[in-house]
Amino acid sequence: MVRRIVVKFGGALITKKDEQSVARIAIIRELCSVVRSLTTDGVQVIIVHGAGSFGHLKAKRWRLNEGYIPNLSHPNDSCESQVEAVYEVRRDMLRLNSFVVAELENLGLVVQSHPPHQWAVNLGPNFAGSLDRFSSTDPSTVHVTFGDVVDVEDDRKFGILSGDDVVARLSLELPHVESLIFAMGGVDGLLKVPPHLATDADLIERWSPNVHYEGLHQSEIDVTGGIGLKMKRGHLVAQSGIGVYLVNGEHPARIVALVRKEPWRGTTILP
Ligand code: IPE
Repeated sequence: MVRRIVVKFGGALITKKDEQSVARIAIIRELCSVVRSLTTDGVQVIIVHGAGSFGHLKAKRWRLNEGYIPNLSHPNDSCESQVEAVYEVRRDMLRLNSFVVAELENLGLVVQSHPPHQWAVNLGPNFAGSLDRFSSTDPSTVHVTFGDVVDVEDDRKFGILSGDDVVARLSLELPHVESLIFAMGGVDGLLKVPPHLATDADLIERWSPNVHYEGLHQSEIDVTGGIGLKMKRGHLVAQSGIGVYLVNGEHPARIVALVRKEPWRGTTILP
């Protein structure tokens, strides 16, 4: 029997969010070692990683989430135009991706990396692009993809495709996906109040859209949808019968426990 899970490594987990293009290699290494344990259990893992400081900072500065804006300029920046910024963010994302791929390969896993700007167009959960490249289901093969700047087939010309949209399509369209796990940085799951105000008692263990939470969306640095987008896409996937979970990726053992159906701490998104 084929067992498959989709895991999102949040950008705030695998990078230092406020320092341009600094990766948290120790965390990436621990997460990849969890992936290896799961593949040894016979579960195929599809990894989608976020961008953190490899994507959001430059994309925000160059307003790449708004699409093409003629004549936008920033004196003294490393690039001179939005088009150059698109190129640089794609390049930075490939670099972050190469860290994840290297850690997986060091553990003896076979990795197939699928950069979205090479196969995906348009935005949101119905973005276009064939998922055929994710078809191999062998547990020793790990598929990896990520949030990226992709081409858009209208006047915007390009935009930001969030990893949260990518996980939704992968979970809903690929056969045999049993769970979607969001590994997050700095929080145990969905909290009732913003993280800096929360205590252990503020974890929401079971969430459906009628359960209130006060998310903090850092729109001044974040070009995608923050926690709100995650919950929306998570709920869309949960409605199809797939288990959807939020866990603290800084405690990677919780991911193993969850997949092995042992006790774990985090949030379950109800259908
Ligand atoms: C954002 O992807 C992609 C870029 C900014 C290029 P995500 O929305 O998946 O990233 P995180 O997890 O918020 O960092």
